[in-house]
Amino acid sequence: MWFSWISLAIFSFSCILIIRAISSTRSRPYNTQLPPSPSSLPIIGNLHQILNDMPHKCFANLAKIHGPIMTLQLGQMTTIVISSPDAASELIHKNDIAISSRSVPDAVRTLRHHELSVVWLPANPQWKDLRRICSTELFTSRRLDANEGLRAHKVRELIAYVSECCDSQKVVDIGRVVFTTTLNLLSNTIFSVDFVKLDSDSESSEFKDLVKKIMEEAASSNPSDFFPCLRVMDPLGRRRRMKAYFKKLHAIFDDNIDRRLLQDASRHNDLLDTLLHSEEESSRIDRHTMKSLFSDLFAAGSDTSSITVEWAMAELIRNPKVMARARAEIATVIEPKKVVVESDIERLHYLQAVVKETLRLHPPAAFLLPRKAESRIALGQYIIPEGARVVVNVWAIGRDPRVWADPEEFRPERFLEEEIDFKCRNFKLIPFGAGRRICPGIPLASRMVHLVLASLLQRFEWKLEDGVEPENMDMSEIFGITVARALPLRAVPVVPSD
Ligand code: HEM
Repeated sequence: MWFSWISLAIFSFSCILIIRAISSTRSRPYNTQLPPSPSSLPIIGNLHQILNDMPHKCFANLAKIHGPIMTLQLGQMTTIVISSPDAASELIHKNDIAISSRSVPDAVRTLRHHELSVVWLPANPQWKDLRRICSTELFTSRRLDANEGLRAHKVRELIAYVSECCDSQKVVDIGRVVFTTTLNLLSNTIFSVDFVKLDSDSESSEFKDLVKKIMEEAASSNPSDFFPCLRVMDPLGRRRRMKAYFKKLHAIFDDNIDRRLLQDASRHNDLLDTLLHSEEESSRIDRHTMKSLFSDLFAAGSDTSSITVEWAMAELIRNPKVMARARAEIATVIEPKKVVVESDIERLHYLQAVVKETLRLHPPAAFLLPRKAESRIALGQYIIPEGARVVVNVWAIGRDPRVWADPEEFRPERFLEEEIDFKCRNFKLIPFGAGRRICPGIPLASRMVHLVLASLLQRFEWKLEDGVEPENMDMSEIFGITVARALPLRAVPVVPSD
């Protein structure tokens, strides 16, 4: 696939590109201050060096040779790759404004999504309004406390489903059930309704498929992202497909909005109510922007959270002593026969360390989300040119032996010994990003991930299907906007022997 589109690009546009390459070489002053770079080929630059399925690993290997601030020429796009906590801190702390725009994938440039979306807008007043709505209307403790009951109900359903599997010794596809639960946790936070059924084994659920497809399309390699001059052609049809997915998703949102408008004035404690009835002028947004915001929340919040739970469960099953310690803590902190609730999380210190350790080794967004330099940025002894795409390889930082002792070991204890949080006082652990574009969903993600994980551990022990031994578990990854498990985690819940 890679080779076919590159051939197409070279064949169709070689003349234009050669002329552009020559003129840009002429007009670019000899700039020895660009960060170091592997040697590159004409037209495609370094694309041939990243032609594999695991760009996060490939970038990490290149950074070992060229350093923590590295340039890659990916087609026409100058890409700067940051691979150390110090460089990330200097980039984001000192240049927060200059680096707070996004490099927008061509696939999302449809139905004006990139002009309305809190994820893809540049850091302009419109983006600030949307961020403010997220932080004041959705993610404050007061708001989250108000709809805690809805989430608790969804988690009870998950546990009831797992109990049935436990009774019949049926295998649970942990990623699938947790993704479904996360979608429903979000749909209840936004619309007070379920969007997906938990007990259906079929992946045919339209909503779930749409969210997955949107994530896949936005993350998949696209010639137009390396050669913007190809945008007009949409060579792999990504924008066309994305438009169809967004239209279907918006139709589902329209149905829910229309239904709510027809209902009497009875209030729900959800985001839709707030947006429709807010007395604050600044919290009212038009319907199209509302639908873009909902699309963003589902895309940014569901897969990231469920993947975190799935990786955490995989690591716990692979490390039985860690699993035993996490379960023992839950048994000590939560009274027998009581279920875990969100307010218990702050007392589950070891569980919090398990989640941090999971996010260190398996950050769902290995490169965060791509930024764009709005102006020329001085970084150390180098210059990042205006317009460059900038990615921070948090996956590489999480596994760097200069940053973490025994980085490949899953050892949550390290977070009990050293106080590190996600608030970016320390750039060793930034799975939610940093600076003004930091993930606004941390408070909700934190509640969902800890609650679901604690609930799965409290009631059950877990063993792998078909007698697979924990030490032989396949832990390989697949790369996308999120880095997921290549093989779904399938495990059998058993009644604890204790
Ligand atoms: C474990 C779960 C999650 C992880 C690891 C995660 C990670 C991230 C990362 C890395 C970014 C980009 C930050 C940057 O550029 O510096 C981001 C942005 C974002 N996240 Fe999350 N996220 C999670 C959960 C959520 C949830 C639950 C929501 C909401 C329901 C959410 C909503 C967003 C939004 C709206 C943005 C875009 C912010 C902007 O561009 O201004 N995320 N997230």
